[in-house]
Amino acid sequence: MIKKLIPVLILILFFNCKETVKKSEINPTKRGLVTDKAMVVSARKEASKIGTEIMKLGGNAFDAMMATEMALAVTYPYAGNLGGGGFLVYRMADGEVGALDYREKAPLAAIKGMYLDEDGNIIKGKSTLGSLAIGVPGTIAGVFKAQERFGHLDIVTILKPVIELAENGFTITQKQELRFKGYDSLFKVINGKEILFNKNQSAGKKLKNLALTETLKRISKNGRDEFYKGETAQKLIAHLKEKGSIITMEDLARYEAKWRKPIQFQYDDLTITSMSPPSSGGICLNQIMSMVEDFDLSNYGHNSLKTIQVLVEAEKRSYADRSYYLGDPDFIEIPIETLTSDVYLHERIKDFSFEKATPVDSISHGEIVGYESEETTHYSIVDQFGNAVAVTTTLNGGYGSKVYADELGFFLNNEMDDFSSKPGEPNYYGLIGAEANSIAPEKRMLSSMTPTIVEKDGELYMSVGTPGGSTIITSVLQTILNVHEFDMTMQEAVNAPRFHNQWLPDEIRMEPNSFDKKTIKELEARDYTINERRSPIIGIVDGILILDNGKLEGGADKRGDDTAMGF
Ligand code: GLY
Repeated sequence: MIKKLIPVLILILFFNCKETVKKSEINPTKRGLVTDKAMVVSARKEASKIGTEIMKLGGNAFDAMMATEMALAVTYPYAGNLGGGGFLVYRMADGEVGALDYREKAPLAAIKGMYLDEDGNIIKGKSTLGSLAIGVPGTIAGVFKAQERFGHLDIVTILKPVIELAENGFTITQKQELRFKGYDSLFKVINGKEILFNKNQSAGKKLKNLALTETLKRISKNGRDEFYKGETAQKLIAHLKEKGSIITMEDLARYEAKWRKPIQFQYDDLTITSMSPPSSGGICLNQIMSMVEDFDLSNYGHNSLKTIQVLVEAEKRSYADRSYYLGDPDFIEIPIETLTSDVYLHERIKDFSFEKATPVDSISHGEIVGYESEETTHYSIVDQFGNAVAVTTTLNGGYGSKVYADELGFFLNNEMDDFSSKPGEPNYYGLIGAEANSIAPEKRMLSSMTPTIVEKDGELYMSVGTPGGSTIITSVLQTILNVHEFDMTMQEAVNAPRFHNQWLPDEIRMEPNSFDKKTIKELEARDYTINERRSPIIGIVDGILILDNGKLEGGADKRGDDTAMGF
């Protein structure tokens, strides 16, 4: 009898095991890479490796930042860049915090209505594709400014492995092959010819970028000004002029990265430091976390009905404020103190009810966020000296404007689309922009990038951030809460399914097939619209958590080719 039952028992065991495997794939419970002292988590293993090697040579987080950012420009042209911009938030080992803004700027010749036709209507694609979509790049100014102030090593040492990587090539991944194939025809249309990144570049092949190798060699020799005033600048402007861009040598020469005072706030025993305007990231994260702090999230449970409701309602209110009040602080007054004050935020969330969704038109007067697309990249670094950086950098859309400077080996951003092309009018995503973020010469466009550093009881606890356009803020939010409220490891926290609400459109975006069907039904019964089609993935979060024993745990998001490395 037992013998007869054995095949049945094996089958039962087999199906039980399969079930277990499936569950653990959806909700893995392991820690990510754990190291003793130093770590880089980025979108590419080559970039994490080079950043780590720089620290092994005695470099600190700022040396590693320059190396990692440039290595991403080589290996991850989708978002890594020389032709874009970004934001850095840092915490030194002694607790000093700061932020660097190397966001792109509108060219001097930019005008408010530059994307409108003679009837005042938005010309589709003009702010997203081609030469007029490009903002003056900030990345080289940013990495040099950070490294010059805080770094230990010389530029030649830092850029050497990056130059070798560009010269010897990196291995194309499956995800990259799909993207090169997908964008091939658009690259041809915008550039008028086939470029290095094309449909013939298949996974497993080595891709060498010799033009970028030469650009990096010149930057290594001549420094920051090579990009803004030197041969590289001249070649870039000649190329852009040929393509019809309005960016001039004067635009490049006038570009400066800027130190900014970061946004800092408390949440329970955490001190959170994040990016200030012209990014909305820090203010919105502060607003949302302050609005939800008094709710018992850990008791409601991760991604439970009540947790989703509380977060969504706080997000709605914050994104409505973002749209109306936020822009470049060098051009507009932003009432930061009020927007982040407890009294204001308490008032803002006062009408929340678990019974029913708050209707969006009762929340504000209708002005709303400019559209940001979803292709950006983030990396986190902690060095062996105890310094931490969180850096988010972008071309805006995937491969930016698609304009490729073939003689220099890099793409140019389409960051101009992060402005409100026409305040008060719906944009590509049906969102409405506001005056605070309208176009003006030398103004920086509003961002959602949220590089963030978290302290716990006064000690470094986490460095975290993500790409994802307007979903960046809510992805960072959920990752911090996953660790703090729901006891997840760093790796679990970045892998966990995410949702997003940005006030308008009036919907909760959810990663498909990741949420409990009953919870979705209960949300719908309370007048929430669920959209599982809009975003196959929400964010690609990379983070580092300091464990109780002082070791570092990396969280490299399973959604990308992201990798943690360290020692
Ligand atoms: N371009 C995306 C952002 O800055 O938020």
